[in-house]
Amino acid sequence: MKILLTGGLGFIGSETAIATIEAGHQAVIVDNLYNAKIGVLDRIEKLTGVRPAFYEADVADKKKLGEIFDKERPEAVIHFAGYKAVGESVAKPLMYYRNNLMTTLSLLETMGEYDCHNIVFSSSATVYGTPTHAPLKETDPRGEATNPYGETKIMIERILEDASKADPKLTAVLLRYFNPIGAHPSGLLGEDPRGIPNNLMPYISQVAIGKREYLHVYGSDYPTPDGTGIRDYIHVVDLAEGHVASLKAFNETKGVKIYNLGTGKGTSVLELVKAFEEATGVKIPYRLEDRRPGDVPENYADVEKAKKELGWTARLTIADACRDAYNFQVKNPEGIKD
Ligand code: WQD
Repeated sequence: MKILLTGGLGFIGSETAIATIEAGHQAVIVDNLYNAKIGVLDRIEKLTGVRPAFYEADVADKKKLGEIFDKERPEAVIHFAGYKAVGESVAKPLMYYRNNLMTTLSLLETMGEYDCHNIVFSSSATVYGTPTHAPLKETDPRGEATNPYGETKIMIERILEDASKADPKLTAVLLRYFNPIGAHPSGLLGEDPRGIPNNLMPYISQVAIGKREYLHVYGSDYPTPDGTGIRDYIHVVDLAEGHVASLKAFNETKGVKIYNLGTGKGTSVLELVKAFEEATGVKIPYRLEDRRPGDVPENYADVEKAKKELGWTARLTIADACRDAYNFQVKNPEGIKD
């Protein structure tokens, strides 16, 4: 299948580009390089032996997107393009609403014009809001977003639901990611955050190479066994394979299909630190600090639906993810070069 990946040079997009190529699909990438490096394209080629067609373009630019669709005629789209920093979204909400919504609307309109009726959307467990229980199931209601980034994910899920009601030919697969971590095992691709990392694994990796002094552990008085927050950390390679598995949904009934992509297992902050130390042999100094506003004590996925309907299940371990994240950090201490 010819698949257009918007934001296909980002952390999850690039890994998914590799997985789609390895599964025998043809990948076409559109990325405006806002939060990605052009050097990633060379690395995809190095790892797969295939250089995907690449367009440096903003998906919100309908004219340009139309030209790309006209030339490429993709059969399906995997839509990653969007801003994703929670804290920044609180400071710049309009920028987040404009970008994440405009890209999606422009994409859906263009898909309609070019007879493309299959979309996979990069959603997030954040759409469950502040969960009252774990594990979370796809049938659990969407909650109240705690930030504009999360609100855009909820809004886009709703837009896709409405669009599919109005267009019986449309199939929209909503993939709700839990906490993606790790990197490509080669060390060529991985998470390359700008500035000080907000997320736990990139922060730990930077402490490991001495770029940061110690880890701030946000909250040690949660009602969890060791008092620190519990999340469902999923290796990005597993996540990428989940996208490929989800393409199966296009051959079946039309409409909206929702899948959690997680491991189904919860890991605490201190467990992750210990796993990282064991996997890499590097000590991670940390300090226990106050809770971070907006964090929930515990959050992990019910993964039965993806297993049953897509035949997909996460196969890599937390130790694999720690080893791969560290390997990427060691090989790219200043991130991916252009
Ligand atoms: C995990 C745990 C922290 C950093 C966020 C977004 C979500 C998503 C993924 C984005 C928590 C603790 C963290 C640190 C710490 N999507 N922590 N010290 O908050 O579960 O999810 O990222 O694209 O929408 O909300 O992930 O990695 O930030 O935190 O102790 O320096 O680690 O308190 O318990 P989170 P995270």
